[in-house]
Order: sequence, then C-alpha cells, then structure tokens
Amino acid sequence: MDVRNRFVASLAAISLLYAGSAWAGAITGSAHDFSGSNWSGGKICVACHAPHKSDTTVSDAPLWNHTHSSATYTLYSSATLKATISQPGGNSKLCLSCHDGTIAVDSFGGATGTTMVTSGNLGTDLKKSHPIGFTYDTALVTANGSLHDPETKTVTIGSGTQTRSGTLKSVLLYNGKMECGSCHDVHNTFTVGATGSGLVKLDQAGSKICLTCHDK
Ligand code: HEC
Ligand code: HEC
Ligand code: HEC
Ligand code: HEC
Repeated sequence: MDVRNRFVASLAAISLLYAGSAWAGAITGSAHDFSGSNWSGGKICVACHAPHKSDTTVSDAPLWNHTHSSATYTLYSSATLKATISQPGGNSKLCLSCHDGTIAVDSFGGATGTTMVTSGNLGTDLKKSHPIGFTYDTALVTANGSLHDPETKTVTIGSGTQTRSGTLKSVLLYNGKMECGSCHDVHNTFTVGATGSGLVKLDQAGSKICLTCHDK
C-alpha cells in the first residue's frame, strides 16, 4: 500500500470507529430514531419534519410534520412559585404532540397512526411536571431570590466533541422562556450521556442540571 492509500485507509478506519461508538451526540440509536419502526419507511426525521408542505400553525415549529395536540393543559401551580405560567409555548407544544399521550407517534403528514408513547406519556396534567411555559428573566430572579440570572450565568451543555457554551438564556431558553427543550435535546446532539440517559443537556450527577438554574 502506498502512502496515499494508507492515509485513505486510516481515514476510513477512523470514521468507522466513530460511527460504531456509542458517544453522546447523535439522534441515530436514540429514543427518537424511528428508522426501525415499520411505519417510518426506514426514515428518522419524517415523524417530526417535512421538507415541504409543513404545518405552520404553531409558531417557531421548524418544518413541522407531526399532528398537533388540541389538549388544554392543567398548569403547574404552587404557593411559592413566582413565575406566571401560561399554556406551553411552541417548543413544548411540539414535544407534547407525542408526549401528552393523546396523539399517536405515527400521526404525521396528515395520516392518523396507532402507536402511542409508552413510558414517555406525561399526560395533560402538567402540574405533575417541572413548570414550563414561562419567562425566566432577571425580574423573576429578583422575585424568587434563589435563581441564577439567565442573562449572565454561563453554562456548557453536551459532552465529548459536541458542546455549546453561552448564557442560560442563549443555550437553554426559547424566546426567553423555559420549555421542554431547556432540559432536553430532542436530537440527542448536545446531551451528556449515552443512549437511554434521558436526552438531558446537563449532568444529573450531584443534580448539576438543577443547580445550573437554582442557586440552592
Ligand atoms: C421526535 C421529533 C424530532 C425528530 C425525529 C427530529 N427532530 Fe428536528 N426538531 C424537533 C424539534 C421539536 C425541533 C425544535 C426545537 C429544538 O430545536 O430544540 C427541531 C428542530 C430542528 C432543526 C432546527 C433547529 C436545530 O436544532 O438546528 C433542524 C435543522 C432539525 N430539527 C433537523 C432534524 C433532522 C435532520 C432530523 C432527522 C435526522 C430531525 N431533526 C429529527 C424534533 C425532531
Ligand atoms: C413523534 C413523536 C415524538 C415527539 C414529537 C417527541 N418525542 Fe420524545 N419520545 C418519543 C418516543 C416514541 C419515545 C420512546 C419512549 C416512549 O415510547 O414512551 C420518546 C422518548 C423521549 C424521552 C426519553 C428518552 C430516553 O432516552 O429514555 C425524552 C426525554 C423525550 N422523548 C423528550 C422529548 C422532547 C423534549 C421532545 C420535544 C422537544 C420530544 N420528546 C418530542 C416520541 C416523540
Ligand atoms: C427542569 C428540567 C426538565 C424539564 C423542563 C423537562 N424535563 Fe423531561 N426529564 C427531566 C429529567 C431530569 C428526566 C429524567 C431523565 C432520566 O433519568 O431518564 C426527564 C425525563 C423525561 C422523559 C422520560 C420519562 C420516562 O419515564 O421515560 C420524557 C418523555 C420527558 N422528560 C419529556 C419532557 C417533556 C415533553 C417536557 C416538556 C413538557 C419535559 N420533559 C420537561 C428534566 C426535565
Ligand atoms: C433551565 C433552568 C432550570 C433548570 C435546569 C431547573 N429548574 Fe427548576 N425552576 C426554574 C425556574 C426559573 C423556576 C420558577 C421559579 C419561580 O417561579 O419562583 C423553577 C421552578 C422549580 C420548582 C417549583 C418551585 C415552586 O415554588 O413551586 C421546583 C420544585 C424546581 N424548579 C426544581 C427543580 C429540580 C429538582 C431541577 C432538576 C431536576 C430543576 N428544577 C431544574 C428553572 C430551572
């Protein structure tokens, strides 16, 4: 083998190594890789996205293909909460189109499917879940007294070669609001663990994920 061929061979070996390793940082093999389901036609993205004729009824929905839920959610409330909670915002509505358990995973592109989420059924009573759908800003930090300021506190999400750094506001919030994507990365791109670790953007060890925002 001449030098050039040896170089090409080693490049191929490296890419094989990466393709085969279970590092965090890919939708392939994650809970959202639907390519193995018989209804997906071997595709990963199709249950959520379409390149054309996408559904634009929910604001900020990127080329959306999945049927939306029409549920009205019971919102989080407590005696101590300072935030003003509203119905879930765009990002969360996309997740809840499968995870409130009212619409099938394979209901997309206008078709009605039959496969429901199982362990991931959060229901429509969001009082049972960490609050979402509210503005997290300096005013809320002042009112609450034990939160980090999302405008100034910085964080690094992800792991290995796939990380993103910035203020809480720039890497965790959606239009300044707390949504499902504040803790999870739907594509498993900027997550901390291997497959099955809950698609979380920050480590759960020592509750690092919680202490990123809560100054306890
Ligand atoms: C389970 C649903 C789901 C699947 C499957 C999915 N996406 Fe997404 N995608 C979303 C949601 C929700 C958003 C918007 C929120 C966000 O970016 O966190 C999004 C946003 C995006 C964006 C814009 C923002 C960004 O992250 O760059 C791109 C590009 C994208 N997806 C590409 C893809 C591709 C390519 C695939 C298949 C390989 C895919 N997605 C599979 C749900 C999905
Ligand atoms: C097209 C339907 C669909 C959409 C949209 C969707 N999911 Fe999922 N999600 C699933 C399915 C199916 C599973 C596998 C578990 C189950 O069946 O309950 C899953 C699993 C998960 C898990 C568990 C992962 C694990 O490794 O155990 C998390 C966390 C999650 N989803 C978060 C989200 C978030 C956050 C969004 C929006 C940004 C989202 N999902 C959008 C269908 C969806
Ligand atoms: C404050 C952070 C936070 C927010 C906000 C959040 N989650 Fe989670 N979620 C977590 C953590 C932490 C886990 C546990 C991950 C694990 O260990 O598997 C989890 C688990 C899950 C699971 C897996 C449940 C199971 O038992 O299989 C799903 C599905 C999920 N979240 C979806 C959502 C959706 C949809 C939203 C928005 C409505 C949301 N999450 C908002 C932190 C959050
Ligand atoms: C991205 C930032 C962020 C993350 C991550 C986060 N939280 Fe929160 N959490 C908030 C904000 C902001 C509030 C609203 C506080 C308020 O309104 O007073 C809140 C509210 C809460 C509440 C309700 C407080 C009340 O008074 O009713 C609890 C409990 C809580 N979080 C616990 C957790 C735990 C446990 C984790 C880790 C699994 C976590 N949070 C992760 C930002 C976050």
